[in-house]
Amino acid sequence: MRRFSLGAAAATLALATATGAALAAKEVEVLHWWTAGGEAAALNVLKEDLAAQGVGWVDMPIAGGSGVEAMTVLRARVAAGNAPVAVQLLGFDITDWAKEGALAPLDDVAEAEGWEEVVPGALKDFAKYDGHWIAAPVNVHSTNWVWANKALLDELGIAQPTTWEEFVAALEAVQAAGKVALAHGGQAWQDATIFDSAVLIAGGPEFYKKSMIDLDPEALGSETMVKAFEVMKTLRGFVDPNFSGRDWNLASAMVINGEAAFQIMGDWAKGEFLGAGKTPGEDFLCFRVPGTEGVVTFNADQFAMFKVSDPEKIEAQKAMAAAILSPPFQIAFNTVKGSVPARVDVSDADFDACGKQAMADLAAADEAGTLLGSMGHGYANPAAVKNAIYDVVTAHFNGEYDSTTAAEELVTAVEIAQ
Ligand code: BGC
Repeated sequence: MRRFSLGAAAATLALATATGAALAAKEVEVLHWWTAGGEAAALNVLKEDLAAQGVGWVDMPIAGGSGVEAMTVLRARVAAGNAPVAVQLLGFDITDWAKEGALAPLDDVAEAEGWEEVVPGALKDFAKYDGHWIAAPVNVHSTNWVWANKALLDELGIAQPTTWEEFVAALEAVQAAGKVALAHGGQAWQDATIFDSAVLIAGGPEFYKKSMIDLDPEALGSETMVKAFEVMKTLRGFVDPNFSGRDWNLASAMVINGEAAFQIMGDWAKGEFLGAGKTPGEDFLCFRVPGTEGVVTFNADQFAMFKVSDPEKIEAQKAMAAAILSPPFQIAFNTVKGSVPARVDVSDADFDACGKQAMADLAAADEAGTLLGSMGHGYANPAAVKNAIYDVVTAHFNGEYDSTTAAEELVTAVEIAQ
């Protein structure tokens, strides 16, 4: 018995060593910021998919929502001549790295897998540079969502709000009942996430385009922009005193456990609800920020492959890129992550109610010309401009500027950043 066990252990060890050697040969080091519960669960789907294909995973997680900290680490790694093999990137950051010539082309994978026909145009604008594929989009998220605790709303007799005015009334009713009305974390990127919706509430999609995407100084300094900052001020009145610095997933947890009624956050928040065993429509509600319906402020996580010379690594990069856009993987990953597929030919059958709505909203907005890049998540303008907008939005949110001054500061900050 004893001898048999030892033999089996030795065989297992030999096998593990052999597998380990194979994995070590073909592996990707992946820099990402998916460290919250729902994010990590989705990341595991990717890790396991790659493992099944014999591609090993070297994890390089950098905590911090929206990747602000991850981008700082990435710059340091590249400057030190030690770029990661694969990197999670958003929007204009992809373009910026492509401009620097840092990204490996993925044209052969794209051609073999038929990406051209299935990836939505809004994502291709960022996944391609100068006619070449330089990133593999893994999903589509959007920022103009509200997440609500259904039991709490039912208990307080509050119906799902359908206009901005009704939303404010609902927030007031929750506050009057002694609960936290709006779960929020005071971090610049989270303030910017709700600013996407504030701009839409104040001026609609055309105004969003003019101000956030075209950076028209007149729009940036307009009365409508003052109104957007007033929307932010109203929302600021509904957060709890401990909001400063709170991570977004902890704000989601406040809604999940009934401490708070609402959170305005991208649909990665759904990953937290699902991870806590909650069901959409029964335990929680998802709906577009009232006053922004018909518009989708999107962001898509994409994986870019940094140039490397080792042929094994190049092979692993290609395997990863191909895996990311395969239809079964798109379903397995996005149903966990809270996002929707980055290809137009995937059925919504396996998605929950929020996912189905997200897919329908995306298609409708694309058709109507109201699928707009999220400023908060790097799809409206390059990092320098985005960070300048973050600074003004956060300073205003924290009471440093009144709304008129904030609009004036926005004009100046954006001008300097360009
Ligand atoms: C990313 C999401 C991520 C969220 C919070 C967004 O910028 O697109 O994938 O879950 O940040 O970290």
